[in-house]
Formats: sequence, C-alpha cells, structure tokens
Amino acid sequence: MVGTVVITGASRGLGLASATHLYQQGWRVVAAVRTVEAGLERLRTATGAPDGDPRLVGVRLDLRDRASVAAAADAILDAVGAPEVLVHNAGIAVAGCAEELPAEVWQDMFATHLFGPVALTNALLPSMREARRGRIVVVSSLISIRGFPGASPYSAAKSALERWAEALASEISPLGLGVTVLVTGTFDTEIITDAIDDYRDFDGPYAVQNQCIDRRGRSAIRFASPPERFARGLSRALRATGPYVRRPVGADARLTLIARRLLPDGVLHQVVRLAMGLPRAGSIPEPSTTIR
Ligand SMILES: NC(=O)c1ccc[n+]([C@@H]2O[C@H](COP(=O)([O-])OP(=O)(O)OC[C@H]3O[C@@H](n4cnc5c(N)ncnc54)[C@H](OP(=O)(O)O)[C@@H]3O)[C@@H](O)[C@H]2O)c1
Repeated sequence: MVGTVVITGASRGLGLASATHLYQQGWRVVAAVRTVEAGLERLRTATGAPDGDPRLVGVRLDLRDRASVAAAADAILDAVGAPEVLVHNAGIAVAGCAEELPAEVWQDMFATHLFGPVALTNALLPSMREARRGRIVVVSSLISIRGFPGASPYSAAKSALERWAEALASEISPLGLGVTVLVTGTFDTEIITDAIDDYRDFDGPYAVQNQCIDRRGRSAIRFASPPERFARGLSRALRATGPYVRRPVGADARLTLIARRLLPDGVLHQVVRLAMGLPRAGSIPEPSTTIR
C-alpha cells in the first residue's frame, strides 16, 4: 500500500531516513518538522526530489506548543486531507538519574512524547474516521519495555505513549482504523550521542551509577544499526493491517521483549543491573546527600 504518510521529526535521524525511504517507495510524504525549509532541503537532497514536488510537503510542528500542533493539523488537512498513516516519530532524550533532573525535563519529555502526539492525533482523527481508514504509528523504544536507569523520564514517557496507543487501538479499530507500535532498538542517530542534554553529576551521590551507565552506554553505541535499517523495518510494518500491531525493530529490541516475557521482575532487575554494570544493592558506602 502507498498513500500519504505524515512523519513527525523528519528533519534528521530515523524520521529523515524513514521519510526518504517511503518517498522512494512512492508514498506522498508530509514532513512535520520544527524548521520547514531546512528539513525540506535535507529531504530533497536525500531523495533527489525536485523543488515543489507535490509528493514532498513540509509542515511546521513543535510538539511542545499546543498552538503549533493545532496549526500543523490544519496545514496537513489543507495540503493532503486525511492521511493514510501518521507516524509519531519525533523524540528527545536526556542523560541523568531521576533525582538529578529538573521538573522542566519531565514536562518537555511528556509534551514531546505524549501530549503533543495525542493532540495531533485527535486533530486528525475526525478526517481519518470520515475516510474510514488510516493507521497511527508510534515509534517506541526498547527502553519502554521496563524502566531503564539513567533514562527514567524517557522510559516513563514512552511507556505512557504505548499505553495510550493500546487503548486508542481498541477505540478506533471498530471504525476501520489501526495502530502500530514499533519497539525500536539502538540506531545510530543524535539521540544516542552526547548531543542530548546532560544533567549527570559525576561527583554527586549518583557518581558511580552515572559512570557505569556512561561506560556501558558508550559500548552499546558501537553496535547501533544504521537509520536506513529502521526505515525498512517501518516500511515492512506498514504492510501489517491488523487493528493493533506491536513489533520490535532491531535485534536488541527483540531480545529485550523476549527477556521481559520470560523473566520474573526481580530477575529482570538484576539482568538490567548487570547489563549496565551497576553495583549491588546497598554496596555504595556513605553517599553524599547533595544534589547540585
Ligand atoms: N536512535 C535510537 O537508538 C532510538 C531508539 C529507540 C527509539 N528511538 C526513537 O526514535 C524517534 C526518532 O529519534 P532519532 O533516533 O531519529 O533521534 P534524533 O536524530 O535526535 O531526531 C529526533 C527528531 O525529533 C524532532 N523533535 C524533537 N523535539 C521535537 C519537538 N518538540 N517538536 C517536533 N519535533 C521534535 C527533532 O527535530 P529537530 O531537528 O528540530 O531537533 C528530530 O527530527 C524518537 O521518538 C526516539 O525516541 C530512537
């Protein structure tokens, strides 16, 4: 099937690779991005699309801003009407243990990963319901399968996104619409690099945990897959038309899903502790109590 796909965060990373791949497969792509001209320029370079190509449409979207989400939905409906597919791909990550993170981080995380996507979906659903077809795709993460140390707001926001998507699937499938959740493994984009906001204090009470997580994180990055592989996974996933589809993209996501299914919670806690190289319970002597 090809039709019109809206992809949020299509300016770089997995969104850019996916928009490029789907365009090359014949889809009309609406790139919902924070900076339209720069985003479209990158997409034109990646796809070879000419200026003014009607199969490549740019729409401004900042998921943290309610007015921007509403304006983006209007612009999408004006430009292409009801899309066949809406991919909630845009995302952010931060580094730091839960106690180290300011409240604004939690607000931004949930605005970007949950409140913005919910508002954009609600604004587009009337036209999709009227068309009696359409699919909402959410790009989740292996880090949402359980809470991961050093990534608590991200884990929490992606888990919330998945629970919303599950509930939505039950509500909209009787109307002919569907939902796909992609549990995404590790791919080589900026979100897994030092480019993200960093709140870690390497001298504070979480110094040991931050060092362990940093060390293991850096070695995991070496095995990250190219974004084009994710794009092919998304494209394959779009062929599944069931009312609710949830599947891993990437071998590490597949393995983590299997571990979640097989292992009791206490054992999984220990597996994650060992995987991240974290010390045993109670083994850090006299931690400082100061958070800077
Ligand atoms: N890469 C991985 O290993 C991995 C693993 C699991 C899940 N994921 C998920 O995959 C998705 C794509 O991430 P990525 O790896 O491609 O990261 P990325 O290279 O950092 O790209 C993130 C994208 O999200 C956009 N974005 C961020 N905040 C936004 C906002 N408030 N409004 C609109 N757009 C916003 C960015 O736009 P700007 O260019 O304007 O900043 C950018 O296009 C995310 O949902 C991420 O959580 C990635």
